[in-house]
Amino acid sequence: MSSWDEMLKGKTAVVTGASRGLGRADALALAEAGADVVITDILIESDEHNEQEAERFGPIAQVMQSTNVMYADKTAQEIRDMGRRSFAAKMDVTDREQVQDVFAKVKEEFGRIDILVNNAGTLDHVSQIENQNDDFWQRDLNVNLTGSYNCTKAVWPYMKEQGYGRIINMSSVAGTLGGFGQASYSVTKGGLLSFTKSMALEGGKHGINVNAIVPGIIGTEAFKMGNAKMNQRMIDRTVFKQPGEPEDIANAITFLVSDKAKYITGIGLNVSGGIELFTF
Ligand SMILES: NC(=O)c1ccc[n+]([C@@H]2O[C@H](COP(=O)([O-])OP(=O)(O)OC[C@H]3O[C@@H](n4cnc5c(N)ncnc54)[C@H](O)[C@@H]3O)[C@@H](O)[C@H]2O)c1
Repeated sequence: MSSWDEMLKGKTAVVTGASRGLGRADALALAEAGADVVITDILIESDEHNEQEAERFGPIAQVMQSTNVMYADKTAQEIRDMGRRSFAAKMDVTDREQVQDVFAKVKEEFGRIDILVNNAGTLDHVSQIENQNDDFWQRDLNVNLTGSYNCTKAVWPYMKEQGYGRIINMSSVAGTLGGFGQASYSVTKGGLLSFTKSMALEGGKHGINVNAIVPGIIGTEAFKMGNAKMNQRMIDRTVFKQPGEPEDIANAITFLVSDKAKYITGIGLNVSGGIELFTF
């Protein structure tokens, strides 16, 4: 059994949507635990098409692009500075061809792919059914659900060949509890929990463990951009009366993808500060 230090030494991880927020924190934590990590996202500092891409991906992407909140290349550099291998790649999880190409490149450069964190997601609108924008409905399904499917499908043959893999899907309490004005988002996050269980069943015989993280509210740049009053109401529902930190998610993921969690598969792990607990 490996020690807690460097427990991911020799492993290669790919994190989607990792240029900021939870994805970036996950990537840094995996690297700290010894893994080589590939940072992927639609917005990458060195990409000259960022403006058009941001427009395509909605309001949050546009704000992040215009305020330069994208740290994909920077995160890869930070990981290299830790002595691990890393690069940043532009990868839209809805683009099957681009996804296949990036995973093929990772395999070619690093020789194996042990860990996939399906983190890319959209959390940029709240609207009740009458006002639900049809394009956003479809986009949420495409990015959150089909995007995770695309990446899982691309990495599966490599993991199967190795007889080893760890996949994490980023769900949400909106997926377990539903969300007022969040039909499109919550349906994708609920779907990811079923996807996790099905893939865990299929992965067992290939040494592939598949689990989900169920975050409550975590103080990322994207969360902080939300409506302040609405955010405070959610914070008040947690046991700790404060949002979680990105590291709370990253630590849970680091454990779940390590061999310390080798007998855990098919679960949705709440990292939610108890937001779902019933109280008077
Ligand atoms: N922050 C929270 O409170 C919270 C709570 C529950 C679940 N989550 C989930 O955690 C994940 C990260 O959330 P966050 O708070 O860091 O949000 P975020 O918006 O900062 O991060 C999402 C990342 O996904 C990327 N992305 C969007 N569309 C993409 C696409 N088509 N292809 C590739 N990348 C794409 C974005 O560019 C961004 O970097 C999301 O899946 C979100 O649903 C977050």
